[in-house]
Amino acid sequence: MKKIIVLSGSARKKGNTMKSVEAIQKKFEPSDQFEWEHIYLYDYNIKGCIGCKACIIKDGNACPFKDDVLGIMEKLKSADGIIFASPVYSRAVTGQLKNFIDRTNYALHRPSLIGIPSISVSTTDIGMAKKVANYLTVIASSMGTRNEGVLAVRMGSLNNNPKYRKKVERDIDKIGEKFRVSVLEGKKQNPTFEQLLRFNFWRTRAVISREKYPNDYNYWNENGWADSEYYYDAKIKFVHSMVIKLLIRKLEGKIREGVLY
Ligand SMILES: Cc1cc2nc3c(=O)[nH]c(=O)nc-3n(C[C@H](O)[C@H](O)[C@H](O)COP(=O)(O)O)c2cc1C
Repeated sequence: MKKIIVLSGSARKKGNTMKSVEAIQKKFEPSDQFEWEHIYLYDYNIKGCIGCKACIIKDGNACPFKDDVLGIMEKLKSADGIIFASPVYSRAVTGQLKNFIDRTNYALHRPSLIGIPSISVSTTDIGMAKKVANYLTVIASSMGTRNEGVLAVRMGSLNNNPKYRKKVERDIDKIGEKFRVSVLEGKKQNPTFEQLLRFNFWRTRAVISREKYPNDYNYWNENGWADSEYYYDAKIKFVHSMVIKLLIRKLEGKIREGVLY
């Protein structure tokens, strides 16, 4: 049985975002192979980050707030697949989801959702769904997930433009199938270019900033990642590793300066 967690930033359990997620969920056949859990962040106690950086400098437990964030993070770690979902609120993710992302910033420095297949879903009335879904993908893959697609839906067009509706239906078929196959495949697949890039970026950052953030470096080192090609043994495409080496060499200076996040 594979467990899929939907991390929902929507305040409306039967709203547009969850309907889009359900459309993907319907593609998961045979359904008895998959177990679904919906985490509606608006049901949880998630305080806004106060910027003390205790979680980054020490660890997640050092956060002065003892609320639901760490428990949710533990659940995510146990998932075989994760859907990150949010409506567009004022051209961005919802406040509750942003609070969760801010509070788990340490998990970008010290990734713990390694290799978990994920997708991002966002809905909007008019615009920004793609940008919001892409933003969620950057966060998810920085935490270590394997991004399998992005579903962005404009409700106005969906309801008024049959051509657009058909396109969304095709997107749902495509992303749903890709995600389903990936969940069945498991957490130790050969990395995509994006996974490799995030791995190298955060690894380089941990090594370069080892004096400022020794816990980050120790985490990467103790996991055996400070010198490894990837989180686990995997086949890495030669072109991917060459391109990434060049990119990282270029980015190193910027990481050192601290201008690139
Ligand atoms: C507070 C708020 C802000 C919103 N901001 C935008 C926006 O900036 N652009 C947009 O096109 N739609 C915006 N919307 C519309 C929602 O993104 C859209 O209706 C979405 O599909 C709602 O998803 P839900 O049913 O899961 O809540 C906003 C809605 C709310 C409640």
